[in-house]
Amino acid sequence: MRKIAILIGRVIKILLVLIRYNSYSSMSEEKLGIFWKKSCRCIVYGVIKGYRSPYLLGAVIAALQAKKLQYPKVYFFEFGVASGGGLLELAAIGKIIRKELSIDVEVIGFDNGTGLPNIDGYKDHPEIWKYSQFAMADRGLLLKKLEEIGGDLIIGDVKDTVPRFMETIQSGSVIGFCSIDVDLYSSTVPIFKSFKKVESSALLPATVFHFNDVISNWTYSEYTGEYAAAQEFNQNENNRKFELKDKVNKLFALHVFDHHIRQKGIDSGELLEIPYDLLIKMTKW
Ligand SMILES: C[S@@+](CC[C@H](N)C(=O)[O-])C[C@H]1O[C@@H](n2cnc3c(N)ncnc32)[C@H](O)[C@@H]1O
Repeated sequence: MRKIAILIGRVIKILLVLIRYNSYSSMSEEKLGIFWKKSCRCIVYGVIKGYRSPYLLGAVIAALQAKKLQYPKVYFFEFGVASGGGLLELAAIGKIIRKELSIDVEVIGFDNGTGLPNIDGYKDHPEIWKYSQFAMADRGLLLKKLEEIGGDLIIGDVKDTVPRFMETIQSGSVIGFCSIDVDLYSSTVPIFKSFKKVESSALLPATVFHFNDVISNWTYSEYTGEYAAAQEFNQNENNRKFELKDKVNKLFALHVFDHHIRQKGIDSGELLEIPYDLLIKMTKW
C-alpha cells in the first residue's frame, strides 16, 4: 500500500514539473537569457530521476550563473560525504548539467573517511552527534562509482584538504555549488576560513550553498552548528556574506560583494536575472 502511495506521489510530482516546465520555460528569452529554458530542462530531468531538491536546485542555479557569465568550468563540492549517497547524486546532476548547458562541471567530495571527529562543546551539538558516526562504508566502491558517473573524492581533514585544493583552482573555473554536511561547528569553521581567503575570481557573484544541518532539528540554532559558523563568518567579513534564500531547501547565497561583476557590472555575457523561486516551484508538489 505504502509503495503504491509513493509511486502515485512520484507520478503526480513528475506531471506537475512537466506542466510548470511548459509555462516557465517559455518565459521571455530576452529577459531571462538563452540558458533559462535549458536550466528548466535540467530541473525536469532531475525531478524525474528523483534527485534531492537542494542539490538539484543549488547546482542548476550555480551553473546558470556560471553560464551567463561565460565561465568555462564550474565546481560542485560536497563537504562531508560519509558513504557517498549525496555525492553520487551530485555527480549524476553534474552529468545532466554538463550535457544540457554545455559547461565543464567538476564534482568533488571532501571527507576524512573515518566519520565525525571529536565533538568539541555545545556548538558541535553533542546531544545529536557522536565521535566516528557516519564513517565511510566502502571507499573503493565509492571511487569506482564516482569514476563511472564523473566525480572525485579528496580524503583528509577539511582543515588541511580544503585550503590546499583552493590553491589549485585555475583562472576561468569557479566554485558554483557547495553542500555543507560536516555536521559540526568545529568542522565548518575551517571550510569557511578558505572562503574568506579565496580570490573573488574563483567564486560566483552569489555562490550557492546548501547547509544540511540547520533549521530542521529542534535543538539547531543560529548560535550552534553550521549556522553559527556562517553567522561568525558574516560578523568578521565585510565583503562576503551568507544569506538564507530558501528555508525549505536550506539554500544560502554567499554574496561576494568584492566580485568584479558586483563592482563594475557585466562586461561580457548576460545580466544575472535568475528567478530562482520559479525553479524551486518546479520541484514542489
Ligand atoms: C552526515 S555525514 C555526510 C552525509 C553525506 N553528505 C550524505 O548525504 O550522504 C558527515 C560527514 O562529515 C565528515 N566530517 C566531519 N568533520 C570532518 C572533518 N573535519 N574533515 C573531514 N570530514 C569530516 C564525516 O566523516 C562524515 O562522513
